[in-house]
Amino acid sequence: MEERLQKALARLGIASRRHAEDLIRQGRITVNGRIVTAMGIKVDTEKDAILLDGRLLPPPAPLIYALLNKPKGFVTTLRDPQKRPIVTDLLKDISVRVCPVGRLDYDTEGLLLLTNDGDLSFKLQHPRFKVPKTYEVEVKGRPAKQAIDRLRNGVIIEGRKTQPALVKCLRKGEDASLLEITIREGRKRQIKKMCAAIGHPVLNLRRTAFADLKLGHLAPGQYRLLRPEEIESFKNYLQKQKNI
Ligand code: URA
Repeated sequence: MEERLQKALARLGIASRRHAEDLIRQGRITVNGRIVTAMGIKVDTEKDAILLDGRLLPPPAPLIYALLNKPKGFVTTLRDPQKRPIVTDLLKDISVRVCPVGRLDYDTEGLLLLTNDGDLSFKLQHPRFKVPKTYEVEVKGRPAKQAIDRLRNGVIIEGRKTQPALVKCLRKGEDASLLEITIREGRKRQIKKMCAAIGHPVLNLRRTAFADLKLGHLAPGQYRLLRPEEIESFKNYLQKQKNI
């Protein structure tokens, strides 16, 4: 199967797509004995000899897609200067290197996808594909209807209005209320900033869905591999979005 060189490098787990482009620009990649510095040439990883810094690339690792219920108290980066626990420590039986698709805060729990499929991960995080992410959000106090409408229509955070969100009120109480919020953006700490902007800070945050994928009954800290039809459904979703 022919594919663009930078895509092949990402798929083989050599680098993210952007980093792969840097490697090509820097003249560190050869294909069948020739240095390639132009973007977009097509390669077939089964037939072409692709070398990075003169070393043959390893055969592709099998593609792994894991759905983890991230507990609180774990970071979603692969290294932490503060030496806090890292989500990949929880994937005990997975020996290939997988990376989280996007991030969740240290104190956020819920659905986190991890994969070594660099191409799928890149697209799922790209704003163009507007992948919906749903959160159960416990907020302080009892937000009035006008406040919830502000979340729906967009609030200004860091000088820029958020895009429309779906918001349901699941439970209202004097001290705390439970909202379900679906956003299609991925700005840093977006849900916490949106709720702070309407005067109802987040007390607890849990992601329950990512595109078609639901968290289901996994306990915090548990994970499962995606079924082939779930992976297919992601790919179909991305294909549909591409054509919009
Ligand atoms: N929004 C947040 O504020 N934090 C998260 O972890 C995810 C979304």
